[in-house]
Amino acid sequence: MTKTDISAADIDTANTDRAADINRAAATTVDPGLSTGEFPDYMLKEIYEQPRVLQDILTGRYDAARQRLVFDEITLTADEIRSLRHICIIACGTSFHAGLIAKDFVERLTDLTVDVQIASEFLFNQRKHRENAMVIAISQSGMTSDTLDAVQMARANGAYVVAITNVMDSTITTLANASLYIQADIEIAVPATKSYTAQLAILTLLALYLGQERGTQRPTEVALFYAELLDSVDKIVRILASQSLAKIEQAAAACAQAENILLLGRGTGTATCKEAALKVKETSYRHAEAFSVLEFVHGPIALIDPGVATPVVALLPADSLDDATRDVLFKAKAYGAKLIVFTEESEQRLVGQVDYQIFLPKATPIQMPFVAIVALQLFARHIACILGCDIDNPRYLSKVVVSH
Ligand code: F6R
Repeated sequence: MTKTDISAADIDTANTDRAADINRAAATTVDPGLSTGEFPDYMLKEIYEQPRVLQDILTGRYDAARQRLVFDEITLTADEIRSLRHICIIACGTSFHAGLIAKDFVERLTDLTVDVQIASEFLFNQRKHRENAMVIAISQSGMTSDTLDAVQMARANGAYVVAITNVMDSTITTLANASLYIQADIEIAVPATKSYTAQLAILTLLALYLGQERGTQRPTEVALFYAELLDSVDKIVRILASQSLAKIEQAAAACAQAENILLLGRGTGTATCKEAALKVKETSYRHAEAFSVLEFVHGPIALIDPGVATPVVALLPADSLDDATRDVLFKAKAYGAKLIVFTEESEQRLVGQVDYQIFLPKATPIQMPFVAIVALQLFARHIACILGCDIDNPRYLSKVVVSH
């Protein structure tokens, strides 16, 4: 596998760039030339920008005539891609949650297995060197210290590093072998929204590209999958214009006074709920935690406080709603939880049995992470609105987490 070794000089240059990043981050303020326009805050504006951002990413990468995805930035040859043995994804916060979903996509579309690690924990990973490894480092800002440190370690260990970032020429791009831009434009609100779905989109395309190059996805499959992804944009548009918006706000109002909000999902739905829980914590300063539905009965269910009707928010598309899942929901209800369930629109099995049922457009397993998070971003933001929190600038947080 051809790799350009990272030298001490490269690391010095990156560290000088990083010092500049730190200064830039410290000086980051909202550009007075930008405005929220018709929206009350940037977070809501950026939520509504998601269909356009996704459309832009998706249309740039597909060669319809050849039914092939194009990733010219990746300098590995087809043989080198076929000889990859391992993929590791590293990131922090919201970007880490995008990585959790990407694991499912890469494993679904290729014959590779994937580890996803919090960047700061990657530094403690005992298994430093793997033959033919690709590391995918995700960072909206391209400046997060923990992720940069992990990238440096991955390069030093001989991995081929692909950076996924929103910021042109950010430090991560100087450290990685290849950089993919998510083209989400500047994201002003500290709670990440459009950059998250943009990361999901590029990661999904990258997973499909790896499948194409490794021969696990034939051209017709690539074409179908690509069409499926494009269709998720319409589904997001439908949520943003749907009657579910009022229902989402009612459900958020019912949670606003709760100290503790528990979220349940299955498969990629659990990762989506983790991202939603992070959105609730950072915007509303309420404790929110996500669990896999069936794991909930192995301890966390004891968190339900019947005295305050702890909200349990479940994301349950049709393929997650089997008897075992329903049992858990009804147990939670019996112990005094307030049940708020996001399901697909034709779902009738819970009608009348939960406190709030919010309908999402019907979506495939690939589309659901895009569709569901938009509804959950709105849910989290509305709780913060009711509580009068500073939506775009939550306390103690900044857009870039850098350390000296
Ligand atoms: C949450 C949020 C943070 C960032 C994290 C990593 O809304 O924005 O959790 O995702 O600090 O930042 P990047 O992606 O810039 O490395």
